[in-house]
Amino acid sequence: MRILFAASEVFPLAKTGGLADVCASLPRALQELGHEVVIALPAYPSAQDRLAAREPVVPLADLPGVELPGVELIPGRLPDGGPRVLLVDAPRWFERPGGPYGDAAGRDWPDNAERFHGFARVLEAIALDRVGLGWRPDLVHCHDWQTGLVPALLSREPQRPATVFTVHNQSYLGRFDRAQFTALGLPEAWWHPEALEFYGDFSFLKAGLVFADRLTTVSPTSARELQRPEYGCGLDGVLRGRAAVFTGILNGIDTAVWNPATDPLLARRYDAADVDAGKRANKAAVQAELGLPAAAQPLLVLVSRLVEQKGIDLVVELIARWRDRPLQWALLGNGEPRWEEQLRALAAALPERVAVRIGYDEGLAHRLEAAGDFFLMPSRFEPCGLNQMYSQRYGTIPVVHRTGGLADSVVDVFAPGDGIGTGLVFAAPEVDALAAALERGLALQRNPAAWSALRRSAMAVDFSWQRSARAYLEVYGRALAARSGGHG
Ligand code: ADP
Ligand code: GLC
Repeated sequence: MRILFAASEVFPLAKTGGLADVCASLPRALQELGHEVVIALPAYPSAQDRLAAREPVVPLADLPGVELPGVELIPGRLPDGGPRVLLVDAPRWFERPGGPYGDAAGRDWPDNAERFHGFARVLEAIALDRVGLGWRPDLVHCHDWQTGLVPALLSREPQRPATVFTVHNQSYLGRFDRAQFTALGLPEAWWHPEALEFYGDFSFLKAGLVFADRLTTVSPTSARELQRPEYGCGLDGVLRGRAAVFTGILNGIDTAVWNPATDPLLARRYDAADVDAGKRANKAAVQAELGLPAAAQPLLVLVSRLVEQKGIDLVVELIARWRDRPLQWALLGNGEPRWEEQLRALAAALPERVAVRIGYDEGLAHRLEAAGDFFLMPSRFEPCGLNQMYSQRYGTIPVVHRTGGLADSVVDVFAPGDGIGTGLVFAAPEVDALAAALERGLALQRNPAAWSALRRSAMAVDFSWQRSARAYLEVYGRALAARSGGHG
């Protein structure tokens, strides 16, 4: 199968969160299963810097109905023999300082509708083999709102590839107003509740959900949650209407990048056989790196985008409540200024207990996974979540709210030493529930046999991509069958 993979983030070319990890490792897994995958993403400066095996650029001719002055495709590959990549180089839209969606202060770019509409137009042209590459995909797999217009644009073409759209995060709607809709020149018929219109505005995410042949999200529990008003962000009705073509597939992890036995970013590498010594050495190294006392105390870690979704307020409240207990906290994240300030204030008030690093730091993220005893993920909702899986592989016990992919990838310990539990799961995103789960965990840690059983079962879980990639192939097969007139 020839698959065009369309996304706005792909590790290591551009990353703000888990979307990038998935859009790098799923294509690799599909390639290993014998399929031909081409990944397309915007040519952000970081992507241009990190592209491997760069080839001569392909200038784009003018496309009907869209102004794309000076757009070029930069072909290359993901590093280490990964799949082919096409960077969509439109300097006016993508060559700016700051992040993919906003400036360094976190304010969204005012022309995001225009930028990702332009990106979608180029993807449409690639999908229809109108860019002179002589390559036509059988299927286009789009991810999140930034590519939501692609299935809609393609739906107008009788001879088109099949389309699959994956929701990684429903709270980013790609929502813009009527004036922007008009400015983009989208078909007037799409200003309709059965199409793109969304409570008086319009939504790129909804476009993908309405028009793609098949829909997925990144865990089975999330697929159910998204069809409920509490989680659907206004799109639950659309998803209930399309439930027959909507599936949840749990993400895998890149087991080469996230492997404590080979991880070059760690102070000391380890596996299940020497996890105690390995983690002790990594804890000491992280304490030194972050300026925490070299105490033999439980270390609780967090690596996260600092946004409402992640339940950071619960962690802030718990640290304050437990300020006098012999515990250490190491927190890495960036995002909304209010959480950044609250975390900094905690570190300033409790320097012996709390270390905070604000920013994006791939190396420290790995070292915290290796050093921690517990990894905190009290997310209010979490379509999949990757860190709870990385944590298990590193023998760091995840403490998670039972939602979305957290519910599907962490097994709560029901009895000390049960040999089944891989973490601590709590039912409500409330500080008392988080505290109670952690109390259970701290008690287990004081029981060496139970603790080592827990670590062993966490480290033994297989989160590799093979199974999930096969599940995607099944969805692709159904999308293709639906296109060729079968019943999918
Ligand atoms: P989301 O995509 O909602 O942010 P995920 O758990 O799916 O949540 O993925 C988050 C990814 O981003 C993980 O790979 C995590 O290690 C990484 N990450 C998040 N914040 C940071 C940070 N400040 N520094 C380094 N890595 C981070
Ligand atoms: C999103 C979700 C996260 C998921 C990631 C990759 O950013 O918030 O839960 O793991 O996408 O699918």
